[in-house]
Amino acid sequence: MKIVIVGPGAMGTLLAAILSKSKEEVWILDKNKERALKINQNGIIIEGISGNRQLTVKVAAKPEDIGQADLVIICVKSYHTKDAILNAKPIIGENTGILTLQNGIGNIEIISEVAGAEKVIGGVTSHGATLIDAGSVRHAGRGETVIGRIDGKIPVQMRSIREIFNQVGLETRISRDIKGLLWSKLIINVGINALTAVTRLNNGRLMEFEGTRRILREAVTEATRIAKRKRIKLIYDDPLAKVEAVCEATATNISSMLQDVLKKRRTEIDFINGVIVRQGQELGIPVPVNSVLVDLVKTIEASYNVTLPD
Ligand code: PAF
Repeated sequence: MKIVIVGPGAMGTLLAAILSKSKEEVWILDKNKERALKINQNGIIIEGISGNRQLTVKVAAKPEDIGQADLVIICVKSYHTKDAILNAKPIIGENTGILTLQNGIGNIEIISEVAGAEKVIGGVTSHGATLIDAGSVRHAGRGETVIGRIDGKIPVQMRSIREIFNQVGLETRISRDIKGLLWSKLIINVGINALTAVTRLNNGRLMEFEGTRRILREAVTEATRIAKRKRIKLIYDDPLAKVEAVCEATATNISSMLQDVLKKRRTEIDFINGVIVRQGQELGIPVPVNSVLVDLVKTIEASYNVTLPD
């Protein structure tokens, strides 16, 4: 199987490193020519819970240099999904599967619009990764990966992906209700990401302060109301207890949104709390806490270069 990972961010680099252990042909597609060249020359360095090693991987800046892929894994930030999939068109053939393991809600829809819904596989992963430098990644946490199609169908190709992932130690299963899984992950991100980005606290410390505990609870309650109205079946019974448990389990993590803010990068707020705000407006359900979180994060993004006068 020819597997092409689009975007060498933290998750893309981690997957490239782990999947390179398989007998499959693994490529990275990176639009950034300089970075592609650097990773081609230096290879990938992986450290952390799966051991330290350096490996070579094929990287291309132009999709035409790769040829048709059997599986494309989209690992870019959600706001780059449309550009990434348009750019990847030359490697997408009739039987190419496109897997998204990105954060938030909306990526499956964007990819489907460009490439056709029948090709798209959604997924969530609990692996934690931090990008140290281009091509260099720390594997920070291990967990299950779950994949599935919006229509619940399980084509042979999806079983092959599961087999390859499991062979290299990426514990993977298939679900017929990927929407429920994506929303279950969304609610965790709704509770943690924006609040850590605003307060600059790591995940665990959100539990230490009465104020952050209260805001987290309200944000999660609003999101759960939306999910309930949309008849989405979450994979846990008590969403608040689940989000609090994730804060404890990932206590020392700097959430992906806080990492973005610290590096003055655009965040995925529109695909996380922004989803709750838009759905709230559509369904007539008040979501004031998520609205404030979106406004605060957007203000932080817009004022990265503002400095206070002495
Ligand atoms: O986005 C993240 O950082 C992660 O999904 C999570 C679960 C909040 C842990 O840091």
